[in-house]
Parts: sequence; C-alpha cells; structure tokens
Amino acid sequence: MIHDNTEFTVTPWKVEGNIDYNKLINQFGTERISNSILNRLEKVTGDIHFMLKRGVFFSHRDLNKILDWYENNGKFFIYTGRGPSGNTHVGHLIPWVLTKWLQEKFGVNVYFQLSDDEKFFANKDATLKSTYQFAYKNAIDFIALGFKPDNTKILINTKNANNLYPIACKIAKKINLSNIRAVFGFTNDTNIGMIFYTAMQSAPCFIEDKPVLIPLGIDQDPHFRITRDIAPKIGKIKPSIIHGMMMPSLTGINTKMSTSIKNSVIYTTDIPNIVKKKINKYAFSGGQSDIKLHREKGGNPSIDIAYQYLRMFFEPNDMKLKKIHDDYTSGKLLSGELKQMTIKKINDFLSSHQKNREKAIEKIDEYMIK
Ligand code: TRP
Repeated sequence: MIHDNTEFTVTPWKVEGNIDYNKLINQFGTERISNSILNRLEKVTGDIHFMLKRGVFFSHRDLNKILDWYENNGKFFIYTGRGPSGNTHVGHLIPWVLTKWLQEKFGVNVYFQLSDDEKFFANKDATLKSTYQFAYKNAIDFIALGFKPDNTKILINTKNANNLYPIACKIAKKINLSNIRAVFGFTNDTNIGMIFYTAMQSAPCFIEDKPVLIPLGIDQDPHFRITRDIAPKIGKIKPSIIHGMMMPSLTGINTKMSTSIKNSVIYTTDIPNIVKKKINKYAFSGGQSDIKLHREKGGNPSIDIAYQYLRMFFEPNDMKLKKIHDDYTSGKLLSGELKQMTIKKINDFLSSHQKNREKAIEKIDEYMIK
C-alpha cells in the first residue's frame, strides 16, 4: 500500500509508487553492479553496453560466478521472457536489447519464454486465445531486434508444455505453499494456476545442462529467488541474474510505462505522428514554466521524461547525451527543443524496427521449438 511518495511496491504483478532502486537492492538482497564488475565484464567482452555504463542495469546476482564459469568452462546460456498481456511497448525492449548484446559478446544460445498461461491466470479479462495471440505479436518485436534462429529459441508456455512441464514438475515438488505465500503474498482466493506458475517461469533455467544468465526487469526477481533456492535441491547451479530498471511512464518518472495506464506508453508500432503527439502532449518536462526562467535556471534532466528516454535507450552516443544534459541544465536547450530531438530519435529507431518487424513476421516459425 502507498501512503506517501517514499513508499513503493515492486512485485511481478504490480509495480507502484516512487521506486527507489537503491532500497530495492537491500529489500531484495541483490548486489549492485560495481565498477569492478563492469571492468571485469569489459575485459571479457572487449566492450561495455551503454545501458550497463549508465546504470540502467544496476543490480545482479552471481554475475561474477557466470563470468568465472565462462572463463574456466566455456558456454552458458541466456534466458529471458515476456508475459503476453498486450502489445509491445518500448520499455519491454530494454532487457531484450541487452540480451542481444550479451548473446553477441559471449556467443551463446538464447531462450525467450512467452508466458501466456501466466497472463491468463493473472488477468481477470484475459482469455487463452488473447494471450496466445499476444504471444505471437510480442515474438515479432523480439525477433525484430536481430536474433537469429540458429541460436535463439522461443517458448510459448501452452504450446511448448511438452518441453517445459517435466522440468516444472521437478521444480514444483520442491516448493511448498508457504514459500510461495512468503514471496508473493498470495491469499486464499488466489487461483492455483498462479501458485503453480512460478515453476513454469523457472523451467527454462534448466532447459540446457549449463549455467544460465537471466537479464530482466527487477520486478521479475522474486520468481528467480525461488528458483535459486531450489536449484541445489535438484542438482543444478543457481541462475545468475542481471536486473534492469523499468522505463518510466510518459507522465512521470515515478510510474512505470504500462499498457494499463492511460497516456503512459509508446508502442513499437506507433507511427511518427502519434509519437510526436504523445511526447509533446504527455511527456513530463523538467523545464521551467516559461522561457525566461528556463534560460536563467535551466531544466532538470533527472525528472525530464524526454531526457530519460534518451539516456535509458534512444541515445547510445555518450558525447551527444552529455551535451544534451549540459545544455538542458544550463538553460541553453529548451524543453520543446529537447522534445523535438527525442521525437526524432524515437521515430528513427521505430522506423527501422517496424521494417524489421515486417521481415520477422515471415520467419517466426523458425524460432519456435517444435
Ligand atoms: N513474467 C514475465 C512478465 O510478466 C514474463 C517472463 C517469463 C519473464 N519468463 C521470464 C521475464 C524470464 C524475465 C525473465 O513479463
């Protein structure tokens, strides 16, 4: 429950309030991504992704262990996923883009789970047909990021039950109701699909007999806390995890972009005029109330949604981003000008993404596990 703006809730099914990512590290018991681990990653991969450098991915579990494994034994694999409750928005792409980068750097296999069962259980109005259809739509956006079918496989839970259910059974036998209650706060009227579901989300962690690395939005961490607890009990290595921030809503830094919140979202299929309208009309501005004041005092990039979208995702170039930051802070760059730059960046990205989507539609079957 939220009483004032210092309280927040982050669970796989609810993200609310003013998220304090530092507090979350303590609450969840994860580790901060330190400079020393970034240096180590850079030594191994020869590069460092801007989302890591800028702290968009800020927390982890056992990242050192997966690097140890890689250096001593070789390949691991990567697993991430999406709950197909609606169309893809640009916030969903954050962990997928990092997944792509990690796959290239380490040369490893990727599994992508589409949990249509989960969204059917979790959302009152969802039907199995609607979640299955969204699974296919979401898969198109994933493929459009450039994944290749020879080392990338997509699992739709109801369709690939034969691949996942036997693993899920082994996991489910080691989890009892009080574990689940403690982690998710379920009550007597929670449907039993939800109670079993965490075993399905854990299953792909053990689909190959190698350690796994999971890039995800930090709201998904509770599932894998359970997975990590039971891994030794079924003779497996605990999954390593790398946690990202959630992209904020258009309307402000304290809410996450979410299909269920009106005016909060930019979809991957939005056309240029829609993006322009959404940014101009809804993107919360850190600028001053009039031009004179703005020139005098400057804007505040840390609460400015246009700036944050550039920082988190749409402006990979550090020098350009720094100039925007400094010009905005000094008052040289106006809020309207910053918005125009952001609209252009988003539309450039979406125009090529939308072309890649068209190609992806034809190839989708190549990624599906038979
Ligand atoms: N539960 C996730 C969601 O609601 C989807 C998901 C399934 C997932 N498997 C995953 C996310 C693995 C991250 C990693 O979006």
